[in-house]
Amino acid sequence: MDGNGRWAEARGRRRSEGHRAGTETVDRLLDHLVKIKVPYVSLYAFSTENWRRPRPEITALFNLLNEFIITRLDKMMAKGVRIVTSGDISRLPKKSRDLLENAMLRTGRNKKLVANFCLNYGARDEIHRAAMRFAAKQIAGRKIKIPKEKEFRALLWQPEMPDVDLLVRTAGELRLSNFMLYQAAYAELYFTDKTWPEFSENDVDAAIFEFGRRKRKFGGL
Ligand code: FPP
Repeated sequence: MDGNGRWAEARGRRRSEGHRAGTETVDRLLDHLVKIKVPYVSLYAFSTENWRRPRPEITALFNLLNEFIITRLDKMMAKGVRIVTSGDISRLPKKSRDLLENAMLRTGRNKKLVANFCLNYGARDEIHRAAMRFAAKQIAGRKIKIPKEKEFRALLWQPEMPDVDLLVRTAGELRLSNFMLYQAAYAELYFTDKTWPEFSENDVDAAIFEFGRRKRKFGGL
């Protein structure tokens, strides 16, 4: 969800106002994804590297996340959105953690759209943790066995979510930036110059249309 800061700076506004506008985009797009029946979405909201940002910006981001959950939870219940997370949320401010845990519990049976909020998320961290957990299980069971891919995958943050089909990055950045490196092995990549606050329902449709035109071979012919 890139470009919140640039969107704000271009308008002579504070970066936190850009993040606020970005939160409105999240709200609009979740509605749209439910409407067009997309069953899963992952939103890269805060990376393991984002802790390097100035403290006030970090605080503003988590305050926005809190406000988002407080003001939108009833709506998510009504729309059938289930909230899950990827990333080590134990490092998040306590209020955010509590709100997320309550939101995950309350929305746990919703079926229309799984919205995966990636918070304190990094793909290398995810893969490293999975490898460590696998090794720990082996040591505990006193057996040394090469893991099947499926068993390893089960140790990622959200093993029930399917592989990424379409990965969208906004604001002209042409990198993966440590996002879902394992799950996006065969993802179709879609880059746009639009900033995240400007990214609209039509832009989602355009990305999906483009996705539909791609020929996916998954290494076959
Ligand atoms: C990247 O833009 C955006 C972020 C690091 C934060 C994204 C967070 C939100 C949209 C709000 C909270 C999230 C939820 C799920 C409610 P940037 O700051 O890197 O912008 P720039 O590249 O223009 O500086």
